[in-house]
Amino acid sequence: MTEKLFPDKGRSWEHIEKHILDTKKENYDWRSGRVPNGSFYVSEDLLDIVKKAYLMYFSENALLKGAFPGLDRLEKEIVQMTSEILQGGEEAVGTMTSGGTESIFLAMKSARDYARANNSDLKKPNIVIPYTAHPAYSKSAHYLDVDVIQVPVRDDFRADVEAMAAAVNQNTIMMVGSAPEFSLGMMDPIEELGELALQKNLWLHVDACIGGFLAPFVRKLGYRVPAFEFSVPGVTSISADLHKMGYTAKPASTILYRSAEYQEFQYFSFSKWPRGAYKVATFTGSRPSGAVAAAWATLTYLGQDGYLKAAERTMDVRQALFDGITAIPAFKIIGDPELCIFTFSSDVIDINSVANQLRQRGWYVGFNPEPPAIHWFLTPMYEVMVKDYIKDLKDSVEEVKAGKADAKKFDVRYG
Ligand SMILES: Cc1ncc(COP(=O)(O)O)c(C=O)c1O
Repeated sequence: MTEKLFPDKGRSWEHIEKHILDTKKENYDWRSGRVPNGSFYVSEDLLDIVKKAYLMYFSENALLKGAFPGLDRLEKEIVQMTSEILQGGEEAVGTMTSGGTESIFLAMKSARDYARANNSDLKKPNIVIPYTAHPAYSKSAHYLDVDVIQVPVRDDFRADVEAMAAAVNQNTIMMVGSAPEFSLGMMDPIEELGELALQKNLWLHVDACIGGFLAPFVRKLGYRVPAFEFSVPGVTSISADLHKMGYTAKPASTILYRSAEYQEFQYFSFSKWPRGAYKVATFTGSRPSGAVAAAWATLTYLGQDGYLKAAERTMDVRQALFDGITAIPAFKIIGDPELCIFTFSSDVIDINSVANQLRQRGWYVGFNPEPPAIHWFLTPMYEVMVKDYIKDLKDSVEEVKAGKADAKKFDVRYG
């Protein structure tokens, strides 16, 4: 029988602290840069501020807007700042959510219910997405009873707008483009998708979960970044994650709509129970208000110049990695990604074996099976790992060439 864990009597803080610290020893150390995504850290001073702000609102509940109107104001200000970044103008509205998945879920629910209200011929709704779109669409479709039509991408790994146009039918409620997508880091041609959306009178959702708080600043630095914001006619909604390149505490994302007529369908209202009217904008019920305060603090502490500086550091890390990786003759960068995600592979050496060697050397290793490639999702903090990584990569290549490496298929772990 397994040992009973729930103690008869409460334990001391010393006991608790030790146990938690022990669990931390089992983890990869994110500060070392060896976890290739999920480490959204800019600086020690920002981390301190995020923690302080989070604790100031530790006990309130973001569900209870009536009880905590001050908290609601912070949330509205976060949405407004996000809208300013994404060129939402006077009309855009939105909500804070628990993450990219919830933002996408809510956009899909809104699109489905908007279509139900406006299209009396609608039968089983579907969405048309590029093959590279995040699994959150299929997950949400599963819950919302919506079909998903996945469309192969072009040779440059970006959404194939013509093929998407051909896939749309009378039951399509939404098209999707990513800015950028997670697997290879490519921005889809949102302007072309916007034109198609207007032509077909269709809802276009832009998944800027990664790029929302990064791409506008990378563009300002002078890099080529195609428009994906509300400045593109035809864009109906945008998801942008505060807890990724917004650099704040989890759980925090935003879903924004071009205007209130679309957001109206996001709400869930119910009153057939003893406690009366229950109307919420999010899928979650009770919500951590610490994440709201932390997001407000992050946006305000960094400001435009802070996000610009963070974007510059991220692009500099990327360049340093590109230089180090392509200096090893075996490797090539896949495609032409614009932002913080990229992959690299090889025509002359088995990339699975290289990934296996890197894992043995203590790297968590992101891996993309289609096409087989090693994956990086960068933030400013990855400055710390570039030298060690390039050295380990070179050594791994030598080991593979010498036949010392494990040649079995890399066992991909997502999560
Ligand atoms: C492009 C994209 N969309 C959506 C998501 C889902 O975000 P979350 O994990 O915050 O739910 C991710 C996560 O990596 C993503 O990369």
